[in-house]
Amino acid sequence: MLLEVSELTKSFGSLNVLKGVNMRVERGEMVALMGPSGSGKSTLLNIIGGLLAGDSGKINLEDRAYGTRGPASVVDVRRNKVGWIFQDFHLLENLSAVDNVAIALELSGVPSVEAVAVAEDALRKVGLGDRLNFIPDQLSGGQQQRVAIARAIAGNRPVILADEPTGNLDIASGKAVMKLFQELCHDKENPISILMVTHDPDLASNADRMLLLNDGKTEASDIRTAWGLDEEGEEE
Ligand SMILES: Nc1ncnc2c1ncn2[C@@H]1O[C@H](COP(=O)(O)OP(=O)(O)OP(=O)(O)O)[C@@H](O)[C@H]1O
Ligand SMILES: [Mg+2]
Repeated sequence: MLLEVSELTKSFGSLNVLKGVNMRVERGEMVALMGPSGSGKSTLLNIIGGLLAGDSGKINLEDRAYGTRGPASVVDVRRNKVGWIFQDFHLLENLSAVDNVAIALELSGVPSVEAVAVAEDALRKVGLGDRLNFIPDQLSGGQQQRVAIARAIAGNRPVILADEPTGNLDIASGKAVMKLFQELCHDKENPISILMVTHDPDLASNADRMLLLNDGKTEASDIRTAWGLDEEGEEE
């Protein structure tokens, strides 16, 4: 198992957000995480990504065990294990596509020359080989998100955490991102795993599996139960 979350809890003051989350993601799996606004999806991603400490429970990611450690003691998880993709891309606006990807590698200690080579590779992989020197302003929203995806996959991180990655994209670009995610996860040579938050059941249906975060716990879900639709597709 690549990623395993066991009995993870997290409260903010008296608000119990995560009440014992159990979930697993295998290598090569694309998993969609859904749930109402405020149900704790981003909180769960932040703990898995080593940005926030849980209160109790455990996370195993490859050879790493954490979950209740503070961000300062999981630096290696952030550097080597997880890549992030956000709704609003988080690109540096004055840097070219290749530099946006390379800088992330340089920050984790990769020498510049090598970082640029790896960045170019990653950008080719996401279909931006002909846009290496464009700055974000010169790219469409979908292309900017591809730069962010290249940044997330560069450096061979086994897990990508994507918090509403298509939230700022039009329908066609959103679908293209889903297709790219599928290719990256189902790659025969070097499959990665993606845990992706989305509110859109259509986009979620591109995943291998869906999880619903509800009342502080995750449950397996198919799209109908997640959206309150009964077997015939009617609203309940
Ligand atoms: N740092 C914090 N301090 C206090 N409360 C927080 C903090 N972070 C999150 N919360 C609360 O925890 C709950 C879960 O927040 P979270 O952002 O994880 O929800 P979400 O499922 O990602 O929602 P959305 O779909 O709107 O993005 C919310 O009620 C939120 O207000
Ligand atoms: Mg959120």
